[in-house]
Amino acid sequence: MKLHTIEGLDLRGKYVLLRDDFNVQIVDGKITDAFRIDQSMPTINTLKQMGARVAIVSHLGRPKGVRNMEYSLKPVAEYMRVPLIPDCLDKSFMANMHDGDVVLLENVRFYDGEEKNDLDFAKKLASGFDVYVNDAFAVSHRAHASTVGVTEFLPSCAGLLLASEIEHLTDVMQNPKRPLLSIVGGSKVSTKIGVLRALVKMSDTLIIGGALGTTFNFALRASVGNSLYEPDQAKNALEILEYARQNNCRVLIPLDKGVGSEFKPDAKRENRDMDDIKPDDVIIDSGIKTTARDVAEIGQAATVIWNGTVGMAEWQPTWSYGSFAIARAIAENTRAGKLDSIVGGGDTVAALHACGVADDISYVSTGGGAFLEFIEGRELPGIAVLVNCG
Ligand code: 3PG
Repeated sequence: MKLHTIEGLDLRGKYVLLRDDFNVQIVDGKITDAFRIDQSMPTINTLKQMGARVAIVSHLGRPKGVRNMEYSLKPVAEYMRVPLIPDCLDKSFMANMHDGDVVLLENVRFYDGEEKNDLDFAKKLASGFDVYVNDAFAVSHRAHASTVGVTEFLPSCAGLLLASEIEHLTDVMQNPKRPLLSIVGGSKVSTKIGVLRALVKMSDTLIIGGALGTTFNFALRASVGNSLYEPDQAKNALEILEYARQNNCRVLIPLDKGVGSEFKPDAKRENRDMDDIKPDDVIIDSGIKTTARDVAEIGQAATVIWNGTVGMAEWQPTWSYGSFAIARAIAENTRAGKLDSIVGGGDTVAALHACGVADDISYVSTGGGAFLEFIEGRELPGIAVLVNCG
């Protein structure tokens, strides 16, 4: 896939509408993880150096077309030290811009035309600009006005982050060093069927953990106590296992679990083999044997793709045990030059940051849903329009 990027363009004095994904977690007005913003900086700095006049458009959360200041991008503007333009359709700020200036437009989802990909709204958003640059890989799976509609009205190209995401993910999907181990956790089989099938097809081994793994245990008739799982997905789980058998992919599901008596951060932790789970047990993390097996598998792999934590990694330290062990093992083997590693998904990347190993991973994606859809081989609408725009 050959994308046109900003490289080599003459953008001096040009008004650039730059789509970034600054959908970051904000608690009490403070950004708790600025990874997506930091990853967007190379494109922003390059555009500044090129002398472009840049207005960044982003969403934050799901305000559903309503101007709800709970979803204001103000904390992001403060973090970036750029002016916040209170209304993304008010272009009066443009007259005061100089070459190399950057502003941030207020949350584009304050307008319902955004998620509807309304062309009138897209036209208004695009008006006054010379060029559109999409650097928001993480929202490119959404066909919205600021990812797709605007390309009807402006010459369009990719930013450096978007191009880098596509390059790294395509490379691992097409030319992985073998053996390729995929690790998928998280809560729902129902949202991951597509990606599980895709990973089964390309991987030598697939580890399934988290509540997702519990559903697989249940499908294979294990008792899962009072835990989170999806009984109605048992049939799909069995189909995935059969598909794996047909594709010579080894699938490893949980052997044991860390359980508590309640689904709470301060619940007392016990370890139980899968055949020993009691009716009142609540599974909250991977168990000791499962974790040791996962770490050993990582040690044997040449490539690892990881999406989805295998327990409540945010409930540290009791319930982060399994996820942090995976994060550290991937980091250590990558640092030692034995492993190519790709990690994606909000909670998973947060776990990398929480145990301080994100810098050791070969590639950390900014995408959550977009990462999964890309790995699944689906066309992402926000990228497809850039390819077509040439
Ligand atoms: C994400 O965080 O995955 C993206 O920003 C997309 O957000 P959305 O799921 O609200 O469209």
